[in-house]
Amino acid sequence: MSVRRLADENVQPAAFAFSDENAAWAEATIKKYPEGRQQSAVIPLLMRAQEQDGWVTRAAIEKVAAMLSMPLIRVLEVATFYTQFQLKPVGTKAHIQVCGTTPCMLRGAGDLINVCKKKINAAALEPNAEGTLSWEEVECQGACANAPMVMIFKDAYEDLTPERLEEIIDTFEAGRGDEIKPGPQIDRWFSAPEGGFTSLTDDDDDAGAAREDENRRQCRYARGDRRCKR
Ligand code: FES
Repeated sequence: MSVRRLADENVQPAAFAFSDENAAWAEATIKKYPEGRQQSAVIPLLMRAQEQDGWVTRAAIEKVAAMLSMPLIRVLEVATFYTQFQLKPVGTKAHIQVCGTTPCMLRGAGDLINVCKKKINAAALEPNAEGTLSWEEVECQGACANAPMVMIFKDAYEDLTPERLEEIIDTFEAGRGDEIKPGPQIDRWFSAPEGGFTSLTDDDDDAGAAREDENRRQCRYARGDRRCKR
């Protein structure tokens, strides 16, 4: 785990304010929590600040602390603990977080890091020349069964090869990242066995068919098709 500190003062903006839309969203989000538990909104508010400005600034941390009546150190603890929060400016088109924990390391995370070094910057957390891409190594992202993997924004891209990661980076650089399906980059559902089911394969009754339909519906929902409700 790398040391996580706030960015240098020379890149910190003097102030932070949520846009009107985000301020209304933040107010509604805080109200979701029971009386006296409003501080539970700290993570969603920090994430919204990051989505607005691209990274979490010192001013944003101070603003969130004030909005939630929290001691500044408590918000600093949250922002500096989770690697999902970027504490300095990152690539404007993609920040690639490569999992380097043991399962991913054993399945080729080192090769993915080499791709990032070659295509983006030899140094982690330093953007490429255009400022569009950056990368870093992070700890386990909870997709170990589909190792190796990377996170880009809120999406995981799994079962990667160096070649597939190069394609993904190029697609984000071209501004077409939303065309790439998150999740496994090979032919399998989530963490189901590659090539199809290996158990319950003789289940050809109605219950088996219904279960398969449900699996497909959940898969489509996870891929963003909101027509198939949860
Ligand atoms: S070790 Fe990489 S996702 Fe868990």
